[in-house]
Amino acid sequence: MEVKETVIRLMTRLAIEHSAVNLSQGFTDEAPVYDMVWGGISAMLGGTEEGVRRIESTTLREILEAEGEAGGNSLEITLKELLAEVRNPRDYLNQYSFPFGIPELRHAIADYTEAFHGHRPDPEEQVTVVLGASEGMAVAFRSLLDPGDCVVVIQPYHELYPSQAEIFGLVPRFVTLREDRDAGTWRLDRDEVRSVVSDPSVKAFVVNTPHNPTGKVLNDDELSFIAESCRTYDLFAITDEIYEHITFEGHRHSYLAGFEGMAERTVVVNSISKTGRSTGWRIGWVITPPERTRRLRAVHDNLVVQAPTPLQKGAVSLLRQDRAFFDGIAAGYLRKRDLLLDGLREVGFTASPPEGAYYLFADYRSVPALAAMTPTDAAMHLIREVGVATVPGDNFYATGNEGDRYLRFAFCRSVETIEAGIERLRAGL
Ligand SMILES: Cc1ncc(COP(=O)(O)O)c(C=O)c1O
Repeated sequence: MEVKETVIRLMTRLAIEHSAVNLSQGFTDEAPVYDMVWGGISAMLGGTEEGVRRIESTTLREILEAEGEAGGNSLEITLKELLAEVRNPRDYLNQYSFPFGIPELRHAIADYTEAFHGHRPDPEEQVTVVLGASEGMAVAFRSLLDPGDCVVVIQPYHELYPSQAEIFGLVPRFVTLREDRDAGTWRLDRDEVRSVVSDPSVKAFVVNTPHNPTGKVLNDDELSFIAESCRTYDLFAITDEIYEHITFEGHRHSYLAGFEGMAERTVVVNSISKTGRSTGWRIGWVITPPERTRRLRAVHDNLVVQAPTPLQKGAVSLLRQDRAFFDGIAAGYLRKRDLLLDGLREVGFTASPPEGAYYLFADYRSVPALAAMTPTDAAMHLIREVGVATVPGDNFYATGNEGDRYLRFAFCRSVETIEAGIERLRAGL
């Protein structure tokens, strides 16, 4: 398999070229969480912990008085000039820091994990801050597995799993989630899973829940089955949990590392990309069994050194938000899910309602204008003729033709953007 530009990012590029409403790539067009942004800004300008404290408490009056500007032209001062006045000439918060993450963030990650999952990883021995879940997956693959090892990937999948496996000389072995249209959900075929995991060259199982692109949230029974498979065949579980707070209507995210016998074989990958609406910040983390940490940190250190120091400070502010913030995340997406689902059904798509995450994997075979097309042709038609960017379904599959009927729509954009997309679909289909 040749490693190439990801189709998802290609679709974003084409969306820009064709001025299409971009419902392809999974990022929002809404502002990131303010406390988090402020945490980053105050670190950049404050430079030191003391400087950050000073910036947090300085008032406009104090700044202007210090400059002898208490009256007169003071209202004409720009924000840029104002912030320059409080900038600390001393600095370590914009510099290299611990390669595996500033202690404050590793502690925040441990507290956060305990609060939501009841298990507290040791911030010194188990938590490593990385450049998003993408780097988290890469360092997990590289440090746990050897070239030639096989890794179970559930298809449809996020394309980074098989591509990264390829980069590190691993062999992905695919098992397929299938849509149960009548039940309105997606299911794993346990016999298919058993036949793959029993192969001795299989060493790890990648588990993404809530799932991109189907929106499936694996329930405890399904996770227990995966846990049992990992224990029986001595596999690592590598979990990608970046949509953990986005679950709908009674579906809840469960923490596989908390299942019996799983703490010692599970590597948890997570990030602030989706929770903080900050996909461009590239801050994530990995939680490893203690004996796996040293090698993983060594790979991380040698590849990228560290995640940006001031943005780690921002991530601390995000993870220290109160419970109500995290509990409220799903409600906003539920509204958007229903808006898009209704809009797509109106123009002929069929889709099981996502149980979590923020994608709709919709079957276009019942849309007359698209029915006869391949997924790529359907996606290109939507971009060029209708003005809406999606991702072709077959991009999420390596084997079989299950993906040939799907297009993925992201509903993480603003309500206005989703409405504009639906309007174009109504007009163009
Ligand atoms: C399932 C999944 N994993 C990982 C990523 C990448 O996450 P990050 O931005 O933290 O690298 C994405 C992004 O859309 C995703 O959907």
